[in-house]
Amino acid sequence: MVCLGNICRSPLAEGILLHKAKQAGLNWQVESAGTGSWHIGSPPHKLSRKIASFYGIDISKQRCRQFQKEDLLYFDFIYVMDENNYEDVKAMGSELWNKLKVDLLMNELYPGENRSVPDPYFGTETDYHNVFDLLDKACDKVIEKFSIDKKQKSLS
Ligand code: 4NP
Repeated sequence: MVCLGNICRSPLAEGILLHKAKQAGLNWQVESAGTGSWHIGSPPHKLSRKIASFYGIDISKQRCRQFQKEDLLYFDFIYVMDENNYEDVKAMGSELWNKLKVDLLMNELYPGENRSVPDPYFGTETDYHNVFDLLDKACDKVIEKFSIDKKQKSLS
């Protein structure tokens, strides 16, 4: 899960997807990162922590890290929050860029529309709730999609 600062949107996305994967009995490794370097080593934004905890998810132990091009090799799939993140991951990925492995998370909810998860950094607590709601719905789709893939593979 990749956003710009790795303190607002992607830490929530990491926490939500991990929570849902565990609930579904899937042993997934889920991480988040930022394309920017400003907040490396910092915990998620206090409103992201507050909203996550309101929904029973603890993201307080996460620490910001910057996206690195090797993430494109290591992870099976990378979701970005907006088109700027997409372009940054493409540029930072350099020779390791693989467009088959990267997509906007909102395309799971609204296929092909390239919608953004709005950045709540300068927003209000309500904006963080709205972000949580979008991420929650999109992560349901991610679980559905990749667990179906897994079932199909185990049948073949
Ligand atoms: P995020 O939000 O990309 O959702 O983590 C931001 C956090 C920090 C900054 C920008 C966006 N910033 O400019 O420091």
